[in-house]
Amino acid sequence: MRTQVCIIGGGPSGLLLSQLLRTRGIDSIVLERQTRDYVLGRIRAGVLEEGLLRLLEEAGVGRRMRKEGFEHAGTLISYGEEMFRIDFVEHTGTPVMVYGQTEVTRDLYDAREASGGAVEFNVGNVAIHDADLDNPHVTYTVEGMERRIDCDFIAGCDGFHGVSRRSIPEEARREYEKVYPFGWLGILSETPPVNHELIYANSERGFALCSMRNENLSRYYVQCSAHDKVENWSDDEFWTELKRRIPSHVAEGLVTGPSIEKSIAPLRSFVTEPMRWGRLFLCGDAAHIVPPTGAKGLNTAASDVHYLFRGLTQFYELNDEEGLDRYSNRALARIWKAERFSWWFSSLMHRFPDQSEFDHKMQVAELEFLRDSKAAQKAMAENYVGLPY
Ligand code: FAD
Ligand code: DHB
Repeated sequence: MRTQVCIIGGGPSGLLLSQLLRTRGIDSIVLERQTRDYVLGRIRAGVLEEGLLRLLEEAGVGRRMRKEGFEHAGTLISYGEEMFRIDFVEHTGTPVMVYGQTEVTRDLYDAREASGGAVEFNVGNVAIHDADLDNPHVTYTVEGMERRIDCDFIAGCDGFHGVSRRSIPEEARREYEKVYPFGWLGILSETPPVNHELIYANSERGFALCSMRNENLSRYYVQCSAHDKVENWSDDEFWTELKRRIPSHVAEGLVTGPSIEKSIAPLRSFVTEPMRWGRLFLCGDAAHIVPPTGAKGLNTAASDVHYLFRGLTQFYELNDEEGLDRYSNRALARIWKAERFSWWFSSLMHRFPDQSEFDHKMQVAELEFLRDSKAAQKAMAENYVGLPY
């Protein structure tokens, strides 16, 4: 088989890239290790930046998101019993959209199917060949049969544990990493959200986040030990812990119910440089990870897709390699700023095992500065709604 762009990974990055390329008549094949249902069963991000909304619209998949998503003009931040609000629209003119990654992925799969675009599910043994030469190819197995795709370019959209990043020789890449000494235990429950906007909570028992997917679907997280197991947490224990971490007047209004999903995510900051090796381009989690505080994971994946899509379009339509040559630098310039924001917000909101009383005083001082300073709020809002691209 031959295609112009072979996309490894059918998560949001790979699917979005494939559908954007389609709008310009550029052919691609998506290779996904899992089944469609498995990919759609993963509960992940919930907050989308304006830049991602525009890309979804450009890819022709914005209609349901605009209809069913919820615009949020601001967010709440609490510490102990104190709570204050940051108004994104006042400071930046831009809201964010609450619409789950699961729904984004579903819309992209539906569009891909409707347009007859190829997605191969259940692929195994994906291997990248000759990415440093002019004629790369990808091999894989499906139902025990060996297959080969020849292509012009390979987009490595296969997440943190994929093969793409590891296909770049170690001497040709540099990795930067910070692992945080805790995780997030998250649950999804068919209950009305405790508040109409998100609440990020710093408490002496650790971080908590009250989020949502719609009027009757809530997403809550509590900071837990890095070694914790989901089985250690009954629903009752989760709700009790959450209530202790948010201001009591908010906790009083919390509607609890059975969880329909429960999982633990580790927290990590990670960047690999460069994001290109020959004709292989890394996109999204394959190249970088942020801790989830501030919801930048999916949104940084989207800005990579934007830069790569523009580069590929420039190449095919104008025979100009400038966009591809500058892809890595452009993407990384934005990613490092999102890394900084996610690191800063994580450092501000969590309880660290080795935190001293001085460190805690610094967190409180910073929270109060954020509460009282319009300039600090503007800087936070600018980052939260997403830096331009
Ligand atoms: P992925 O979504 O990881 O997609 C990669 C795809 O490639 C997967 O479908 C995978 O099955 C496939 N794949 C992997 N290896 C291969 C292979 N060898 N061959 C073929 N296919 C392969 N972000 C937020 O903003 N907010 C959150 O609350 C949030 N929560 C998260 C919770 C968890 C547990 C995780 C892991 C991430 C979370 N993120 C969150 C981050 C966000 O979900 C990711 O940034 C986003 O999914 C990145 O999209 P992606 O397409 O680059 O990678
Ligand atoms: C969600 C996750 C986040 O990491 C975040 O900062 C906001 C919302 C969520 O899953 O809803």
